Order: sequence, then C-alpha cells, then structure tokens
Amino acid sequence: MTGGRLITIEGIDGAGKSTLAATLAEALAGRGVRVELLHEPGGVGLSERIGELVKDPSLKVEAHAEALLYAAARAELVRERVTPLLGEGVWVLLDRFVDSSLAYQGAGRELGVEQVRAINLFAIGDLTPDRTLLLRIAPSTGRARQGARGGEPDRLELESERFFETIAAAYEQLASAEPGRIRPIDAEQPAERVLELALAAIEDLIPRSGD
Ligand code: TMP
Repeated sequence: MTGGRLITIEGIDGAGKSTLAATLAEALAGRGVRVELLHEPGGVGLSERIGELVKDPSLKVEAHAEALLYAAARAELVRERVTPLLGEGVWVLLDRFVDSSLAYQGAGRELGVEQVRAINLFAIGDLTPDRTLLLRIAPSTGRARQGARGGEPDRLELESERFFETIAAAYEQLASAEPGRIRPIDAEQPAERVLELALAAIEDLIPRSGD
C-alpha cells in the first residue's frame, strides 16, 4: 500500500462541501481506507484561531492580509497535521485548500492568481492534492442554501453575488488548466448523487482490498 492520498473539496459557499466531505469520509472508511477529515481554515489550534479572526464580520481585513492569514493557517495545518498523516499512510480529505485562496483571494479580491499561488508555495511548499473535487453550483443556488441554513453570515458570506460569480469563474479556469487533478461535479443534484459522482472521480486511487 502506498502513502496516504490528499483529496480536496472545493466550491463556492453553499456548494455542499461539508455534506460531501462527511459522507465521502464515511464511504472511504467503509472501503477500508484510513481517512481523516479536515476543514480549512482550521484543523489545528492556531489555524482555528486564525479562521475565527479572518471570518469575523466586526474586523476590517484588507485583501493582502486576508491572503496571508489563510496561507498562515494552511502552513500550520500542513506541517502539524497533513504531512504527518500522509506519511503514516492515512488519506486526508480536506474541505478547502490552496485552490480556495487562488479563487477567493486571487480572483475574488483581485490580488492575482499567480501572486497568491506564490505565497502559498512559500507557506506549504509544493504539496499538491492527488485529486480535487470541484462542486459546481450557480452562485444564486449557493446564496439560497446559505439563507436556508440560517444563522449570522460570516465576513466572506456577506459579499455580493457578483463576488461569488467571479470566484466560480476562477474555479472553472483552474479546472480547465488541470483537468487531471480537478474534477468538476454538478452539485445542484441530490446529495446521494453527488457522493456517487465523487466516488467515481477518485475510484482509481482507492486500493482494492488485498492491495
Ligand atoms: P467555510 O467554513 O464555509 O468553508 O468558510 C470558509 C470561508 O473562507 C469561505 O467563505 C471561503 C473563505 N476562504 C477563502 O477566502 N480563502 C481560503 O483560502 C479559504 C481556505 C477559505
């Protein structure tokens, strides 16, 4: 058996990432895969605290600072948790990763995708996911789902629909640049179907029992 695999889940807010992450982790565990589910920004103490700061609607967080905070949270998570887990042969299912920063900060905040890629390279080195599942929904659907979820929106969720359209377009560009790694999934469909499509998109990575 090879080392662990890094699988990331991406998409705009309200795309259903957390639901898929939970069901996919369960499905993989059922297939005998040792798997750990983590969520960005978070997963370890420092990154959780940075996540609270960066999403706080009462704080002014300028775009460069925002990109650096997400990168700092990621640097800690990768070195403290993700790399050791992968080294032990554990699969890491990560709800958001570098592509989120490229789409939200690079495109959404207009910092430039390549600039944001560069600070992430500094933060975590060249750790690239084995596969990325891009949950594709219309920005209006994402907004409606967030509304239905209730609760106070965080600082990023307060952004306009236009912001999310820019991010969705950036994700599409990333996917066309790396079709082998990034697999778009129609996430307007029922959750069970999204799970089936996600499993199909990583099937080739799953060891058969006995491997
Ligand atoms: P979530 O907990 O709903 O996934 O929220 C994380 C928020 O942070 C979401 O609005 C997207 C945003 N985000 C970025 O803008 N850049 C990043 O690198 C990450 C990980 C998240």
